[in-house]
Amino acid sequence: MRPIQTPKTYRVKSFGCQMNVYDGDRMAELLAEQGIQPAADGEDADLVVLNTCHIREKAAEKVYSDIGRLKREDGSSPLIAVAGCVAQAEGEEIMARAPTVKMVVGPQAYHRLPEMIRAAADGHRVTDTDMPAETKFDVLPPRRRSGPTAFLTVQEGCDKFCTYCVVPYTRGAEVSRPYADLMDEAKRLIESGAREITLLGQNVNAWSGENGKGQGVGLEGLIRDLAAIPDLARIRYTTSHPNDMSRGLIAAHGEVEKLMPFLHLPVQAGNDRVLKAMNRSHTVESYLHILEHVRAVRPDIALSGDFIVGFPGETDAEFEETLKLVDTVRYAQCFSFKYSPRPGTPAATMENQLPLDVMDERLQRLQAALNRDQLAFNAASLGKTCMVLVERKGKHPGQWLGKSPWLQSVHFEGDAAVGDLVGVEITSAGPNSLGAILRQNCAA
Ligand code: 5AD
Ligand code: SF4
Repeated sequence: MRPIQTPKTYRVKSFGCQMNVYDGDRMAELLAEQGIQPAADGEDADLVVLNTCHIREKAAEKVYSDIGRLKREDGSSPLIAVAGCVAQAEGEEIMARAPTVKMVVGPQAYHRLPEMIRAAADGHRVTDTDMPAETKFDVLPPRRRSGPTAFLTVQEGCDKFCTYCVVPYTRGAEVSRPYADLMDEAKRLIESGAREITLLGQNVNAWSGENGKGQGVGLEGLIRDLAAIPDLARIRYTTSHPNDMSRGLIAAHGEVEKLMPFLHLPVQAGNDRVLKAMNRSHTVESYLHILEHVRAVRPDIALSGDFIVGFPGETDAEFEETLKLVDTVRYAQCFSFKYSPRPGTPAATMENQLPLDVMDERLQRLQAALNRDQLAFNAASLGKTCMVLVERKGKHPGQWLGKSPWLQSVHFEGDAAVGDLVGVEITSAGPNSLGAILRQNCAA
């Protein structure tokens, strides 16, 4: 064992979902509290945290190539910690294959990083993939700084066990954070600059808790109480399961002005046999029924979803039904993926795994349909006025970038600042962004 110097600088590299980005931010805050400074751009860090994602293929290979690339010209390496879902799923193997990795830490244990760093600095290699009874949220330092948009993890884990998905294994069982902790964290974020909060969870709409009056509430109760905080302008939530789309939550879309008109509700496939094999526990019809209700209370809602093509045994005719569903819904934007067998999940050992060329062809056709609808959704914004929350400067001098209520990226020029909520008129529409003219800045 060779002692290593205690790190003075760090870098956290996060991959994958927004929850991983949130975890990465919290790890950064934790390291900063230990007196470790963020490494400047382009500068070598003493400690590198690779915050990995395991949801689809090549995640593990990517981690090994990232580890290899961290090797310096003199052959030395920074202190490397592998965190996130690959760490949880393949921690032992990483330790065996990559001697430069000194720490492996799972998504529920990263609050223990400081002690792990001390052990690593003493020359030990440490793995912590526990799902401890104490929650990391009770140990992490309070949030101190925020940009205009912030994530807030309200719920973690998943009990749904879709047959293709690793999340129930890597993130563990569904757990809701307590209401009071969330209100506190939200207030701190708002005090430190957040004007928009996105509530996060693998199944965010399964969140439940007890409000300040001792009443049991669902996500809509939390949303309504957050909306009462004057300095908070916008609320979003992601990602949801159709079966947890309660009446109350749907009603909130029609009643809570600060709840943005955007709903990410993954369906995965457009055929009931495939949905059953995926263990989705909803049908195409029940899914469409939910969308109908949401559109009834909030007609301008932008819909989004996730799709998997080429699930084991999916026939051509079954895939055609996915295209039919897309034609029916007309999504504003979507994510779509080729099925990827995840070790340890039931679908990975199902018969009839489909060849890659079939999946490629299906994905291309699906994405062509989704792109068509995304462009059409954006084009329908032309000539409209809307509010944009300014998030950052654009590439060109004097240009600003922000988001419309429907989560479209909008760029415009004029007198504004990060964090302003400005009125704009949409003057151009592309597949991925909108151009606009500034009409009114309400920041003053
Ligand atoms: N293969 C392909 N896509 C997957 N997803 C989850 N697991 C897999 C898998 N094994 C997709 C789903 C999910 C999104 C986060 O990732 O569409 O909603
Ligand atoms: Fe995975 Fe299904 Fe849970 Fe989503 S609902 S995290 S796809 S198991």
